[in-house]
Amino acid sequence: TFTPRVFSGIQPSGGLTLGNYLGAMKRFVDMQEAGTHETVYCMVDLHAITVWQDPEKLRRATRELCAGFIAAGIDPKKSILFNQSAAPEHAQLGWIFNCVARMGWMQRMTQWKDKAGKNQQNASLGLFAYPALMAADILAYHATHVPVGEDQKQHLELTRDVAIKFNHDYGVDFFPVTEPVIEGAATRVMSLRDGSKKMSKSDPSDASRINMTDDADTIAKKIRKAKTDPEGLPSEAKGLEDRPEARNLVNIYAGLSGQTVDQVLAEVGGKQFSEFKPLLSDLAVDKLAPISTEMARLMEDQSEIDRILAHGAGQAREIAAPILKKTYEIVGM
Ligand code: ADP
Ligand code: NA
Repeated sequence: TFTPRVFSGIQPSGGLTLGNYLGAMKRFVDMQEAGTHETVYCMVDLHAITVWQDPEKLRRATRELCAGFIAAGIDPKKSILFNQSAAPEHAQLGWIFNCVARMGWMQRMTQWKDKAGKNQQNASLGLFAYPALMAADILAYHATHVPVGEDQKQHLELTRDVAIKFNHDYGVDFFPVTEPVIEGAATRVMSLRDGSKKMSKSDPSDASRINMTDDADTIAKKIRKAKTDPEGLPSEAKGLEDRPEARNLVNIYAGLSGQTVDQVLAEVGGKQFSEFKPLLSDLAVDKLAPISTEMARLMEDQSEIDRILAHGAGQAREIAAPILKKTYEIVGM
């Protein structure tokens, strides 16, 4: 049996979006506060460089992400918070898993296909191997649960396959078969401009997303302009079927307020979107403004952030180093 332990990460590859907040960060905080698991959270800079990053921007984005975690409620006294590259065990275990995972598994990954696009021959080897490193991130802590957005479901399945194959190939019961935790109304926040695309920091259209650092006017404007359909709000969730844009806005409201979609619709069913949108932007500003204010304050003292990260890396390595050592022994090294 394994210690109940949560691991998850976010890439420091640009600003945080409302999708990252609702799909990941807010749920990381909830799991920290639940107190049922040890919680380990990571800024995955090694993943970020699978596509080229300007070094100064990467350094800054990593600190900003750390500030974001803390501003959103991650408490370094309750959770381990650190930078992936500061714990070399991730890359070391990642290599072992490169030798466990199969080419065919990687070739099936939809994120690889999306990100590499038509020019796979020119994508980095790291982008292809990314899911094996992600398996190492998780399994270096023997994590039992991983809260993620829906887009990461396939990678989590690959992590489970790596654990099962390693255990089988070496005749051990060493790595846990990790459970994804994909729960709540907002595990897949969609673009505000196109209900078929996920909200993403890499979308060229800034109007498609709400950034954690957007000010109140910008948030209100983006929500006012968000695509909807001509109908009003239904009184039950089934009235949102085949209405991706409408459903997305209700999901966002539910995610921000901590309600279910049906609870939200019990309150706002029957309203027009012209009435609902101002309620949604007030709620978004209410929840996001204190976080971005606190992020800005934390960014003024970088030495404090660096101190927190150095401490977190030490705690992370205390867990990961013995697991890596044992892995080497099992493998014959
Ligand atoms: P991105 O996908 O924005 O490049 P990451 O890959 O670092 O960011 O994802 C960090 C976390 O945020 C993951 O758990 C991912 O599932 C979640 N996430 C990202 N975008 C969304 C979204 N639009 N809706 C819900 N969760 C999301
Ligand atoms: Na992602």
